Amino acid sequence: MELGFWKDLEKPYIVLAPMADVTDSAFRRIIAKYSRMGAPGGGPSVIWNEFVSVDGLASEGGRDRLMRDLAYSEGERPIVAQLFGARPENFTLVARMVADLGYDGIDINMGCPDRTVNKQGAGAALCKNPPLAQEIIRATQAGAPHLPISVKIRIGWTRNEIETWLPALLEADPAVITIHARTRQELSKVPPHWDAVARAVEIRNASGKETRIIANGGIMNHDDSRHVVALTGCDGVMMGKAVFGNPWLFDESKKTVTVRERLMVMLEHTELFLELIGDIKKFSVMKKHYKAYVHGFPSAKELRIELMDAPDYATIQARVQQFLEESPHADDIIIL
Ligand SMILES: Cc1cc2nc3c(=O)[nH]c(=O)nc-3n(C[C@H](O)[C@H](O)[C@H](O)COP(=O)(O)O)c2cc1C
Repeated sequence: MELGFWKDLEKPYIVLAPMADVTDSAFRRIIAKYSRMGAPGGGPSVIWNEFVSVDGLASEGGRDRLMRDLAYSEGERPIVAQLFGARPENFTLVARMVADLGYDGIDINMGCPDRTVNKQGAGAALCKNPPLAQEIIRATQAGAPHLPISVKIRIGWTRNEIETWLPALLEADPAVITIHARTRQELSKVPPHWDAVARAVEIRNASGKETRIIANGGIMNHDDSRHVVALTGCDGVMMGKAVFGNPWLFDESKKTVTVRERLMVMLEHTELFLELIGDIKKFSVMKKHYKAYVHGFPSAKELRIELMDAPDYATIQARVQQFLEESPHADDIIIL
């Protein structure tokens, strides 16, 4: 089993979840900077890229655009590329490409509940076909033998299937299994089943394998993280939605921000978005972040509505500057 950088990483890991159209190159740079990645006591342990289709990367037509989705900066290391698909041969091909790009690891999406993804037999649908899931892990390992290959799963399709699903995955020797502790049917609508993660840890321990287990689902802060690690015995946790509007999330020493600080980071994030991916992603993808940045202070709602309606970045920038100059709340403190 190739554990790569996971071997020496301090536990418990606290890693950033892959989120399509959220953890793009712009937001990841902002998170790495404001969570002080790489600094003592700061940063996520590992950053995950948003998922990319292996079929798209393997085809001439889609490759150029998707290669842009795989761009990253050095400050985001260790960084893991997440791939989705259902054709083992494409995983081998694309794993080679990802290794050549200098990624630190490759993760395989086995948890996505999206119908179009599941119809291809990919994402969460793989829990219904463990032999194919194993074949995909092995095909990815064959394409990138020097990188740690991990998987991100749900606990089952309509019910908890950890008793059979986890041993099947362990047979293929993944470096890490991240468990979103809900079934595909549950989406994100119920509390996570931490008992399933605790059981997964027991199964892993009994197997004697070195595979790391990461828990995921609804973890919103460092106290939640410690609680889940203590409850399940897992090696680390993954946080996703908690980072919306809070790129300071992984720096535990950062407890508050001023309204001014948060709005300035929002502008910086927007400028990076326009510079790095403004030509390939719709601006509405960026605006979704505004809901999270512009909230929790007086008159936030009015400002948010104006920004959402603004026709271009120049208007947004001017409006935010005006707010910071004129509002009595610009230096109010927000608790993160
Ligand atoms: C907008 C959005 C996009 C997501 N995209 C991905 C993805 O590309 N790959 C993946 O494995 N999970 C994806 N997820 C799921 C998250 O990685 C995570 O498993 C889920 O949100 C539960 O964790 P959380 O409660 O900490 O957010 C996405 C979730 C959201 C909200």
